[in-house]
Amino acid sequence: MNLPEKLSKNFIRKDAHGCPTLLLAPMEGVGDRAFRRAMASIGGFDQACTEFIRVPTNAHIPSLCKEYVANETHPIPQAAQIMGSDPHLMGEMARAIAARGAPRIDLNCGCPSNTVTGRGAGSSLLKTPELLNEIASSMVKAVSIPVTAKLRSGYTDISLFRENLLAAQESGIAFLTLHPRTKVDGYGPPARWDLIAEAKSILTIPLVGNGDILTVADAHRMLEQTKCDALMIGRGAVINPWIFQEIKASFAGTVYEKTEKSLDLFYQTFIADIPEEIPVRTRINKLKQIASFQFRANEELLALRSTVLTGAYQNEHEFLERTLPLLKKVLFTDSNRRREVFGEDSETRQLLNR
Ligand SMILES: Cc1cc2nc3c(=O)[nH]c(=O)nc-3n(C[C@H](O)[C@H](O)[C@H](O)COP(=O)(O)O)c2cc1C
Repeated sequence: MNLPEKLSKNFIRKDAHGCPTLLLAPMEGVGDRAFRRAMASIGGFDQACTEFIRVPTNAHIPSLCKEYVANETHPIPQAAQIMGSDPHLMGEMARAIAARGAPRIDLNCGCPSNTVTGRGAGSSLLKTPELLNEIASSMVKAVSIPVTAKLRSGYTDISLFRENLLAAQESGIAFLTLHPRTKVDGYGPPARWDLIAEAKSILTIPLVGNGDILTVADAHRMLEQTKCDALMIGRGAVINPWIFQEIKASFAGTVYEKTEKSLDLFYQTFIADIPEEIPVRTRINKLKQIASFQFRANEELLALRSTVLTGAYQNEHEFLERTLPLLKKVLFTDSNRRREVFGEDSETRQLLNR
């Protein structure tokens, strides 16, 4: 067994109650440092991952690698995801990031953005399994930590699905994450979990299932239906930052009690980590972006979403003063009491109308 294999065997495992490894998905634009740190304040997942770090063909690696900071989500380890199309540079970048303490480096083979795919990186790699293999091999050779790859199911269709999986596996990666939508699908149609099950029957390395896990029940269903080895969650964690803790607790036969204090800490950590030089308007917009996901958590919140998001706020503190009570009222209110809390004359409505 080589080193990456050994490390992946130790990393992709079940806890004492049978809960598999849980990973926070990379999410460019949403899952930034502030969000990842806020998520780490709640915890429950085994590893975070940076948003993709683009490695252009003229990259100056010694400067670019500084975008990766290992201890951002301490005590939860944080992997780096890199995206590019030049095998040599991608190997160099992997080496430089490993030297900065990364526990794992992931190759992005899924980004659907046309500015990215136009340059042959991200999901474009799914059109050329040989290049995908060459890049992943170069990264694997450059480092002794696990290299992994995150794939969509194809570019325009799934005709190269098997070839891509095998090309990635043969490079020596430690495990593979599958987000079963094509580039052309974007985020529209439901993730095809049947393709995760198919990938599981093709691959010998561990497989991480990803896509549309929004609830604890979804997590259990994905594991049962696909037999994948670990789970990765993105949007479901923005909507419900406690989802990992809830999944872990479900395996232990307990129920995770989320607290108002942990929601406060989540947002305090989040705003403390937005760099000071960022203008107030942008800071509020970043908060609105996260809140816009959380206001999808249930019907009552959804009904309040547009009012909250279109509101005018002086600064981020005012936004939180008006928004957190709404989130708390709904997220922490017994569902039997919701009508009382949300009735036309309720305090919640008054908060909104201020
Ligand atoms: C806003 C956003 C940004 C994303 N950025 C990345 C990225 O940087 N790298 C990546 O591999 N996937 C990225 N993804 C895809 C997610 O990691 C994940 O595969 C996808 O959202 C499906 O999982 P989910 O249903 O749990 O969100 C992004 C998704 C979203 C919604």
